Amino acid sequence: MAQAPRIIVYTGKGGVGKTSVAAATAALAAKRGKRTLVLSTDIAHSLADSFDRALGAEPVEIAPNLWGQESDVYYNVQKYWGTIQSYVTSVFAWRGLDAVVAQEMTVLPGMDELASLLWIGEHYEQARYDLIVVDAAPTGETLRLLSLPEAGEWWLEHIFPIQRAAMRVAGPIVRRVTGMPTPSDAVFTAGEELFHRLERLHDILTDPEHSSIRLVLNLEKMVVKEAQRTFTYFHLFGYPTDLVVVNRVLPAGAGAFLEQWKELQERYLPLVEESFAPVPIRTVPLFEREVVGLAMLERVGDALFADADPTAFFYKGRPYRVERHDGELILSLQLPFATKEQLSIDRNADELVVQVGSWRRNLILPRALVTAETRAAQFEGDTLRIHFAAPASAEGR
Ligand SMILES: Nc1ncnc2c1ncn2[C@@H]1O[C@H](COP(=O)(O)OP(=O)(O)O)[C@@H](O)[C@H]1O
Ligand SMILES: [Mg+2]
Repeated sequence: MAQAPRIIVYTGKGGVGKTSVAAATAALAAKRGKRTLVLSTDIAHSLADSFDRALGAEPVEIAPNLWGQESDVYYNVQKYWGTIQSYVTSVFAWRGLDAVVAQEMTVLPGMDELASLLWIGEHYEQARYDLIVVDAAPTGETLRLLSLPEAGEWWLEHIFPIQRAAMRVAGPIVRRVTGMPTPSDAVFTAGEELFHRLERLHDILTDPEHSSIRLVLNLEKMVVKEAQRTFTYFHLFGYPTDLVVVNRVLPAGAGAFLEQWKELQERYLPLVEESFAPVPIRTVPLFEREVVGLAMLERVGDALFADADPTAFFYKGRPYRVERHDGELILSLQLPFATKEQLSIDRNADELVVQVGSWRRNLILPRALVTAETRAAQFEGDTLRIHFAAPASAEGR
């Protein structure tokens, strides 16, 4: 079998430049000889606009070594959910829902993007490409969906309210008494297959030897804050993050009108460094016009990577994690050094600022820790452990 492909997922708030950066990365890698597929899983596709050409629900060749794909909701749901969808439709129809409405209803929230993400697993297994670049949905959505594979059981339970074994025994009786359509074995098989696909996708995306996630952001408060939150969750869920791309950085001499914007950007840059280090940061300037077509994408790619390999792992590691232990939640932070220096911890709602000498980290706490009381902090070699009282309902995420 051919070598398993490298997977790079770009995510970030809407409008920050995910599509431009994903397309530019793919175009550069392709130009340097890698067989590359760029796949848009964002419902709001703009990959075709970025390349200034039509794309489809299956990969389309754009340039030598370069293919593009904009996945399509109905195509995907049919492809991955077909059997289950027919069953769910029959249940809805039995409940008196109009057939067309029932069909629509079977696309449960999140299913569409999840189905798009399943393409990653498919391309990974087929190994036709050396590189798969994913232009993913904005931060929150992607997060929720990416963590779903761990909650695969949840999906199955909602689709199959009654266990398979119980169904075998009670099926005909239930059907006779209530008239409710019972799922056939084919539906269960499809459900199990889907569950395995989700598990597999999760394994692939959390495999630091093949996959990494890159955050795209702009130097604006709300954008940085959302990226910090995403960064926290990726670490909790174990999705390796290897690069932060700061897009639309104002160049020097932007003119009087933009001078204030430029000052503002310069103020946020240190915050970005504190928030994402040790993950490296690369910047792309704001260009004088929008990024459309291969020539502009080439400019973005050159600005971003210059001579570096766009498919490199710019960072490997997991700078922090949260574990539950003896009724406490423990946040561990990896320090780049072992220390006995004075430690200061500042908390402001969901923000945590940790300072050790001149080393400073600014992170957004996971939801489970926001209301939790800080109890103690201790160093162990190069690891700092902060203990929180576990809220009764905390699930550790
Ligand atoms: N560095 C840049 N300089 C100028 N225009 C840019 C830059 N990056 C992105 N754009 C433009 O900004 C708009 C949004 O970018 P896009 O990549 O579609 O963002 P997203 O995918 O995050 O929503 C597009 O019109 C794009 O051409
Ligand atoms: Mg986009």
